Amino acid sequence: MVNIKTAFEIEKMRTVGRLAAEQLEMIADFVRPGVSTGELDRICHRYTIDHQAATPAPLNYRGFPKSICTSVNHVVCHGIPSDEKILKDGDIVNIDVTLIKDGFHGDTSKTFIVGKGSVRADRLVETSRHCLNLGIAEVRPGATLGDIGHAIQRYAEKQRFSVVREYCGHGIGRVFHDEPQVLHYGRPGTGLTLTPGMTFTIEPMINAGKASVKLLPDQWTVVTKDHQLTAQWEHTILVTDTGYEILTHRSDDELPRVG
Ligand code: MF3
Ligand code: CO
Ligand code: CO
Repeated sequence: MVNIKTAFEIEKMRTVGRLAAEQLEMIADFVRPGVSTGELDRICHRYTIDHQAATPAPLNYRGFPKSICTSVNHVVCHGIPSDEKILKDGDIVNIDVTLIKDGFHGDTSKTFIVGKGSVRADRLVETSRHCLNLGIAEVRPGATLGDIGHAIQRYAEKQRFSVVREYCGHGIGRVFHDEPQVLHYGRPGTGLTLTPGMTFTIEPMINAGKASVKLLPDQWTVVTKDHQLTAQWEHTILVTDTGYEILTHRSDDELPRVG
């Protein structure tokens, strides 16, 4: 069962979504050559607790050891921040933050280019960003999850990139990973029909090479099997009476907050 948020719950989701967005805006200045992903984690952790009076959802979630996920270059998702992992010029790094405030979750990520990226890295990052935006643009009452997945897959594959199948977006609210599963591939008109008050994430992982991924022995870090680059962007979305609202909207977003 997919739960429909009340007006009260939607207000809570707006609040936590804004905090998650502000955290990604805050960390942007620190993402530069020489910083470790462990340091980025500490900055976000302190900011969440001291400045936002919120809780970092990843910390101890199913045993995850840190407060954010940092996924560098060929790491697809769930990268564990570490003092040993120093970012260098030309790297790409996805920073994925999830906050809890008043019992509600806000989940968002973006892929940063460290210093100056290669032509291929730039194109992958921009394509994955556009994939998310195309998915969001499908969101309205009466549309289906298959419409979202199809829009993402179609554009990614047109750019000769591939869509990761093993991980997907998810319903979100009081529960971090709730129903429904939001696949980033599919056929138009198939799957769950969207109705106002649903909240879920869309978070396409787009690979420069083949779609296959593997899990490292740490049981968290997911990498591309061919070790080629991968990029991801994520927003928490509300289905409104007429379309969508991006609950984790940032000032650098291309789409308007409400559409
Ligand atoms: N934020 C991730 C998502 O988009 C989930 C991270 S779970 C963790 O769903 F345990 F790795 F933090
Ligand atoms: Co998510
Ligand atoms: Co996330």
